[in-house]
Order: sequence, then structure tokens, then C-alpha cells
Amino acid sequence: MTIAVHESALIRHFNTRKETLRAWEEKIGCKFSPFRGYKMPDSRLYVEHPEFLDSIVDLVLTNERHIFIRGPVGSGKSTLMLLALRDLPTLADRRGNKFVTGYVGMTGLYEKQMAAAIADSLRVKYRRSWESSQIIEAVAQECLRRYVEERCRTALFIEDVADNQEAAFHKLRYLADLPTEEMIDAYGGALDEPIVTLIMSGTAEYWNAMLNFLPQIADRTEPLDVPPFDDAKAMEFIGRRLAYARGEIDRFNPDDFDIYPFTVEAVKIINTAARGNPRDIRMLARGCQQVAAENFRRFGDPMIGSDIAELVADAYNSILQEVR
Ligand SMILES: Nc1ncnc2c1ncn2[C@@H]1O[C@H](COP(=O)(O)OP(=O)(O)OP(=O)(O)O)[C@@H](O)[C@H]1O
Ligand SMILES: [Mg+2]
Repeated sequence: MTIAVHESALIRHFNTRKETLRAWEEKIGCKFSPFRGYKMPDSRLYVEHPEFLDSIVDLVLTNERHIFIRGPVGSGKSTLMLLALRDLPTLADRRGNKFVTGYVGMTGLYEKQMAAAIADSLRVKYRRSWESSQIIEAVAQECLRRYVEERCRTALFIEDVADNQEAAFHKLRYLADLPTEEMIDAYGGALDEPIVTLIMSGTAEYWNAMLNFLPQIADRTEPLDVPPFDDAKAMEFIGRRLAYARGEIDRFNPDDFDIYPFTVEAVKIINTAARGNPRDIRMLARGCQQVAAENFRRFGDPMIGSDIAELVADAYNSILQEVR
């Protein structure tokens, strides 16, 4: 028996598009699309934000406030958290305390899931049969032990804190308020500062909601706005991705790199349209790549100049306007 397979128009269209893109990628020396999305991007793709990162780390070190990394979707909150997570274990505060870090990246958590996620992230043992309050108590006791015996403060990173169930916040609040009165009574002068610092992330809308509904945490939390990429950072973002796709990321020099086939003007136009948001820069660059690939197929020119960048930026802005 033979089965006739008819190539649908849709599949044909996608295959042609794929070949067109492939030819363009090959022309510019890339092994794959430089602007593909990653769940966990390679850290060599990160453009560093040294001043902003320092401001996060300094706040943690002084131990006066919790932190809320505030920014629109795609602005780089998670990336900054990962960079701060990388640095903290190598540092000590003015009293010589070191840091134990935990990272909760999942969202949509209920009370017990939150308690378990926190315990897991801080490598605290608990039994599955335990209630959430028992799990959090075990975490609190271990944070206390680490502080008193090992001179380690705990820095707990919580992603998109708004996207969890309300009950989960009470667990966070308990940790944010440590040490408890009983702990202070038991240890006296040895416990005169908070032992757990929360580093949360979320949008401005959620920060405002938190001010209204959770003033107990918000009042002791410093919101820090993720700075948008300036043009130099946008260039580096694109340069790193191109180098990565060419298999040359290990030789990347942030002071001297290539943005071919983009022109400097094109990157500036893209960054303006993206308002310095790295996720949007990536989407716009991908749009430019589509147009450039089609141009390359028809006319043999792979460049992305201001004409293509403007075309894509206009289309992007009108789509965004419809969404808003
Ligand atoms: N400093 C950076 N260097 C390189 N790429 C970055 C940087 N910041 C963000 N990106 C890229 O931009 C995209 C969005 O970043 P990220 O996920 O960190 O943003 P976010 O603010 O956490 O977004 P969300 O609100 O969706 O959680 C990712 O593809 C990420 O790799
Ligand atoms: Mg994120």
C-alpha cells in the first residue's frame, strides 16, 4: 500500500521561509538564528549592568531593607537576579557575615508549595507530610542556626512574587520578619538585625498593589527600577548574540566587537522602538532578520540598515498600540 503525502501550502510556505532564513544565517556566518529565545540563556550572553547590580548587592549588604526589583515584562528582572545570585556567595557584609542564597523561580504557588520551594532552595530538610507552617518553622530555625553558628545571613530570591497565591505571602512575611521575639529572647544581644533578606521581582502594577495590601512588607522594602538598555548595551546585546551564533562567544571582547550585518543606526532605531527592553530588542531584531533574509534571497544583500529597522519598528509599534 502506498500513502500519498501531499505537501500542504502551509508546510511549503514554512519550509521556504526556513530555507530563506537558513541561507541568510549562513551568509552572515551563523550556525543558527542569533535571536532565538532561551529558557535559561547562556550567561555569556548577558550584558552586565555593573552599577545597578552594585546597588542591589549594596542594599543586601547593609541589611536595612528588603528589595523589590521592579520592571516591565522582559526588562531583565530575572537576569539581574541571576547575576546577583552569582555574586552574593562570594561576599561578606560589614560584620563579616557571609550569605546563603535561595532562588524560587516557580510562580502560581500555594502556601504549602511556597513553603516547600523555599525549603528546597535553601537546602533545608522537611517531611512531605508536614504542614506548611511546620516547613517554614524548620526553614526559620535553620536560618537562625546558620546565622548564629556559621555567621551566614540568608538571601532569598523570589521571582514574580505577585503571581503566587495570597496565602503564600504569609510564609514570606514570617521569614522577612525574622528573628522572632522568642529567638531574640533566647539569644539576647547576638540577634540585633534581620537574618533573612528578601529579593523579590515584579512589575510596577504589582508593587503598587503590594503597597496597599501588604504594607507590612512593602514599608520595609526598597523598590529598584531595572534600567533600560542604552544604545551601547543594545549594541552589546546584539553583538553577543551574533558571536554566540557564530561559535565565537568565548573570544567576545565587549570593547571591540562586530554587529555585522546590522548598522549602528539600525541598532539605535531598534533600541528606541524597544524602549531599551531586551526582550523587545530581541523580538525586533528577529523581525529585521526576517526582512533581511527575504531581501538577501531576492537581491543578494544581507545587511540590516536603518530602512529595515524603521520598517520593523513601525510594524512593531502599531501591533503594540493595538494590544494596549
Ligand atoms: N542584561 C541582559 N543581557 C542579555 N540579555 C538579557 C539581559 N536582560 C535580559 N535579557 C534577555 O531579555 C529577555 C528577558 O529577560 P528576563 O527574563 O530577565 O526579563 P524579566 O523582566 O524577568 O521578564 P518577565 O517579566 O517575563 O519575567 C531574556 O531573553 C533575557 O535573556
Ligand atoms: Mg522574569
